[in-house]
Amino acid sequence: MGATTIGVIGCGYWGPNLLRNFAENEAAELRWICDADDARVTAMGRRYPAAQTTTDYQKLLADPKLDAIAVVTPVAMHFPIAKQALLAGKHLLVEKPLTATAREAEELIELAERNRLFQPDINVLWDLAPHDLSIMDYLIERQPDIVSAIGSCHIEPGIENIAYLMMHFADDFIAHFHFNWLAPVKIRRTMIAGSSKMILYDDIEPTEKVRVYDKGVTTNRTGDREADYQRLVSYRTGDVWAPRIDSTEALRYVVAEFLDSIRAARRPLTDGAAGLRVVRLLEAAQESIKNGGRVQLLSSAAQSAPIA
Ligand SMILES: NC(=O)c1ccc[n+]([C@@H]2O[C@H](COP(=O)([O-])OP(=O)(O)OC[C@H]3O[C@@H](n4cnc5c(N)ncnc54)[C@H](O)[C@@H]3O)[C@@H](O)[C@H]2O)c1
Repeated sequence: MGATTIGVIGCGYWGPNLLRNFAENEAAELRWICDADDARVTAMGRRYPAAQTTTDYQKLLADPKLDAIAVVTPVAMHFPIAKQALLAGKHLLVEKPLTATAREAEELIELAERNRLFQPDINVLWDLAPHDLSIMDYLIERQPDIVSAIGSCHIEPGIENIAYLMMHFADDFIAHFHFNWLAPVKIRRTMIAGSSKMILYDDIEPTEKVRVYDKGVTTNRTGDREADYQRLVSYRTGDVWAPRIDSTEALRYVVAEFLDSIRAARRPLTDGAAGLRVVRLLEAAQESIKNGGRVQLLSSAAQSAPIA
């Protein structure tokens, strides 16, 4: 099998990163560059002269020699473009969040399954939360039963620029997230507390992005109520460890995984169902914000969600 031919739709802030990674991957041949904005597509065309350029994505859909399309437009355009791409029989990579509603994500998955294929219009939640929720989805492999969020619109009415999101899981695991467009400092920090160790992941740190803390509490139940009351918990503070982390750009793996899954005709690591799970959480959080933080119960069907 030769190189997979790729067309990228959307060359704004993020599109050029995908273009670069596809151009650098020998399993891919960058065939089309598309953006509705003529100046942007011309600038990218100068960078990758072997690719054809257009402002009309229909040209990509109509090209029988094009294998795969990457959609990197604003989220409102993901669904219409992705749907047409699937109907045109193309492999598809859609930037996150997959779609603007869970219904749209479900329709794309149904369409992809039927075809035997696969794989500033938003607020701060839809902009920043997909990252954290995707990481959570991958790491803890289960879905919450309760979602609650509050947010505020300080700049544009109806567009939250700050949001706090909380989740509860059936086994009493809880998670909370802060998203803020106006923070004076850029914070990209995840703290995970487990039963025996804790992890701090700071994506802003240039070298030691992940630190593992041997820190926790031990419960010393003896059965003697008075003694238990006196020394029920003791705090343990041990070593801090910074494992060596592969510094390869994440998008390089995204592109490699996409191309390999096409080649091997297998389901990619993050398939439509993974995208749908994240969009469902975003929808529940949005609904909660609309209702002043009201708790949203997620149905068990939505939690397990093995769509395919
Ligand atoms: N994975 C990540 O870390 C990451 C980071 C940033 C953005 N994103 C996602 O990437 C997507 C794009 O975000 P962005 O910040 O680059 O947006 P952007 O607004 O900077 O760029 C979007 C581009 O799409 C073009 N476009 C819009 N409609 C089009 C159409 N019909 N046909 C062709 N081109 C069209 C626009 O002209 C623009 O150049 C969003 O879904 C966003 O959530 C992901």
